[in-house]
Amino acid sequence: MGKLEIKNLHASVDGKEILKGINLTINDGETVALLGPNGHGKSTLLNVIMGHPRYEVTEGSITFEGEDVLSMSIDERARKGLFLGMQNPSEVPGVSNSDFLRSAVNSRREKPISTYNFYKILDAASKEVKMPFDLATRSLNEGFSGGEKKRNEILQMILLEPKICMLDEIDSGLDVDAIQVVADVIRKEQANNRAFLVISHYARLFDLIHPTRAIVIINGRVVIDGDPSTIKRIDTQGYEFIKTELGISIEKEEPEMNKVSLGSCAVREAIK
Ligand SMILES: Nc1ncnc2c1ncn2[C@@H]1O[C@H](COP(=O)(O)OP(=O)(O)O)[C@@H](O)[C@H]1O
Ligand SMILES: [Mg+2]
Repeated sequence: MGKLEIKNLHASVDGKEILKGINLTINDGETVALLGPNGHGKSTLLNVIMGHPRYEVTEGSITFEGEDVLSMSIDERARKGLFLGMQNPSEVPGVSNSDFLRSAVNSRREKPISTYNFYKILDAASKEVKMPFDLATRSLNEGFSGGEKKRNEILQMILLEPKICMLDEIDSGLDVDAIQVVADVIRKEQANNRAFLVISHYARLFDLIHPTRAIVIINGRVVIDGDPSTIKRIDTQGYEFIKTELGISIEKEEPEMNKVSLGSCAVREAIK
């Protein structure tokens, strides 16, 4: 049995089905690269695994170390060792980053960590992500640049010591040096036998973290689950080969604007 097992997972947002039967197993020590065109359900999958309330699971199952994940609260999932570094972390004015981090750390411990020990590990983790210590103590993500928000997600990951680290476009908005910093942390955590599920559009990050497998999600389903050579292929050729070789047509993301104008055209047609 895999560490994380997802079977026939269907999930919707606002009544629209996004995930249409995802099957995926992640084992100990694996680093799985997750690719796919925009709008096909990558972030939705990670959010559903973590338990974001916006998404409704309509069918299928997720188990982690044999336990039913879907019946757990977000908190319980975090305590069991699931972690999500978000694509767009939100700003939470009025909550200090260090208070947030400390309560997250405490939620995974029997006895609360002492102030001294907490600041010691916070200081070490800030150095590891090359983040100025004052950022670690400011309001959570407030006024952070895109790159600082991403480093802060990695800082959380270091402090929480999860068993499965899910990272959603952690490299977007990072310059080359910052990508190296993030990759160094990931390499270190891989050596601690943590598993990773990493979404990225860029081969650069994957070159640095050496995924053991690559999966591709199209139209809410896993259409490729295989060796990491797929990453290079997508990097150089795009997704066209999936259409020609696998016969899978790739639905284009509908921009909201189009939906509105199509809708209003239809309404105008209807009232003519
Ligand atoms: N919170 C949400 N509210 C409405 N629609 C959403 C929400 N999250 C995702 N979607 C829709 O679900 C689809 C898949 O989105 P997403 O999982 O973010 O794609 P990806 O990460 O692969 O780019 C898109 O059509 C997107 O508009
Ligand atoms: Mg996404």
